[in-house]
Amino acid sequence: MSRADTFFWVLLPYVTLTSFVVGHVWRYRRDGFTWTARSTQLLERRLLLVGSYAFHLGILGVIGGHILGILIPNGWTDAIGVSHDLYHWVAIVAGGAAGVLLSLGAIVLVYRRLKIDRIRATTLRSDWVMYPLLLVTILLGMLCTFVGGLVDEYDYRETVSPWFRSIFTLQPKGNLMVDAPFVYQAHVTIAWLLYAVWPFTRLVHVWSVPVGYLARSPIVYRAKRGATRTALR
Ligand code: HEM
Repeated sequence: MSRADTFFWVLLPYVTLTSFVVGHVWRYRRDGFTWTARSTQLLERRLLLVGSYAFHLGILGVIGGHILGILIPNGWTDAIGVSHDLYHWVAIVAGGAAGVLLSLGAIVLVYRRLKIDRIRATTLRSDWVMYPLLLVTILLGMLCTFVGGLVDEYDYRETVSPWFRSIFTLQPKGNLMVDAPFVYQAHVTIAWLLYAVWPFTRLVHVWSVPVGYLARSPIVYRAKRGATRTALR
């Protein structure tokens, strides 16, 4: 491997993971009160509703697709009888649909942030780094699925996926990425940069999903006086 290959496929992932882990601890300890999505719902609701729903539903599908395609070895899907062709078409149709929803949501959210003065005024410096990285990662991901999947029929489960897993087993197989098509190389590289800045942006809110809401006791709200009396009667 050349020095550039070693940098991109071995060093960058570990620098990123260090920034991701240490950055989150630092942010939580130093700046716990800013650990939020900094919602702008009070300033504008209509576009937020559409954009946020599309984005978050889309990202759930895309995460599911990444777990299936990147984290789960193809030997496992083979073992339960999922043929290569079936996997390929599910990845394109379901992954593509989730990606389109995610892209539309991201476009609406960014449009809203740029075009509505009040929202633009709440935009942080970190947003100017995070949003472009997010948009480019999504765009390149879509190119991987539609160009890599339909035109080239590139089997990333033989290269990108085992390389990604090898990083976490501390035996990085950078050589698997050397000959991967450029869109895949670019997609994962920009994704690493996104992960590196993640702890310093509003994306930290991802780790504060209010799952407790599902199990907590209901909160009783007081109705208006008249309404309460009517209800009691
Ligand atoms: C380093 C981590 C990542 C790796 C190794 C990776 C790898 C891949 C691969 C191989 C594909 C093609 C999937 C297919 O054609 O079936 C893909 C697609 C995609 N990726 Fe990533 N990705 C990573 C991170 C991200 C991140 C952080 C985002 C967005 C926030 C993202 C968004 C997408 C989208 C939108 C698609 C197209 C739709 C889909 O297939 O679900 N990826 N990614």
